[in-house]
Amino acid sequence: MVVTPWEVRGKVDYERLIREFGTQPMSNELLQRLERHAGGLHLQLRRRLFFSHRDLDVVLDLYEKGIKFVLYTGRGPSGPVHIGHMVPWIFTKHLQDKFDTRLYFQMTDDEKFVVDDEANLKDTTALGYENALDLIALGFEPKNTFIIYDVQDIDMLYDIALEVAKRITYSTAKAAFGFQDSTNLGWVFWPAIQAVPCFIHKKLTGENVPALIPAAIDQDPFWRITRDIAQKLGYYKPAQIHNRFLPGLGVGGKMSASEPETAIFTTDPPEVVKRKVWHAFTGGKGTVAEQKKEGANPDVCSVYQYFLYLFEENDKKLTERERQCIAGEILCGDCKKQLTERINKFLAEHQQKREKARDTIEKYHIKR
Ligand code: TRP
Repeated sequence: MVVTPWEVRGKVDYERLIREFGTQPMSNELLQRLERHAGGLHLQLRRRLFFSHRDLDVVLDLYEKGIKFVLYTGRGPSGPVHIGHMVPWIFTKHLQDKFDTRLYFQMTDDEKFVVDDEANLKDTTALGYENALDLIALGFEPKNTFIIYDVQDIDMLYDIALEVAKRITYSTAKAAFGFQDSTNLGWVFWPAIQAVPCFIHKKLTGENVPALIPAAIDQDPFWRITRDIAQKLGYYKPAQIHNRFLPGLGVGGKMSASEPETAIFTTDPPEVVKRKVWHAFTGGKGTVAEQKKEGANPDVCSVYQYFLYLFEENDKKLTERERQCIAGEILCGDCKKQLTERINKFLAEHQQKREKARDTIEKYHIKR
């Protein structure tokens, strides 16, 4: 298993990541606290898609004393957005609605440029704007959502990045990220830029509050080095809530843009979704007769994971689907058809909102 911000390979063992990264598992007590504040438990918490955290308890302690927090998440624009990318954004929207907080969203066109030999800056910047449409389409409002485009907005970020970079040694960065002699200088400096939105709220508003970062667990190394220096700079340590990866439609592995046949992109037309889901890996048996007799295995089924983590809000219906699958009462073709319908319904609406977002995208940009 390899899990770094730039590479995820092999079967991901989430328990092991909690141990190796030194994060905390989401406890029942924390879930109850979140439930109390939010008036319910979001599907992605109930189903443990968000499974780990750092200092979420501290952020809630402060919140209960009247100190708010801001939300921070981001996206490296290396290609089109797929539904796996949107998992933490959907959850972020939920937190924003329930806790009435600001969101800073970082679009790292610079990162994608420095880490990929083939990339050029024009493309990553253009992709940044295209990707921002997907964020906006999820319903974020410009009054409390601020999208930072690194290259365009660097003047706003640079002083904080320098303060951060000065206090992190190369050996710390190397240990966190695995840098080598062949790693380019842009990449070595870059993590200082990802730290900036943790702290930028104070500069923009004068208010010193912690940032809470919903993000996939592979981003954790950034926060580890940022947390070490936060207090020296007069800020709260940034807190995190980590999600698992949404699996791809293939055998194991996360949904990845580099395997387009097993990823659902937000711009996929209905017939493409239908084809991809039709070829998805399931826990089914070789023949219908066998499956009716012996049942199938939802635990390994990629189709089932999509109902679990995104598309079946109703817990009873989900359990019933699981039962029918194990009992051989439902066949993979049935689930694939139903999932295709759900995804296409979601995407039809998303694609409309995504196009509308072209008219409002400027409103999400921080005015100076
Ligand atoms: N490094 C992230 C990526 O490659 C982008 C990013 C920047 C991010 N800031 C973030 C992701 C904060 C999550 C949270 O995708």
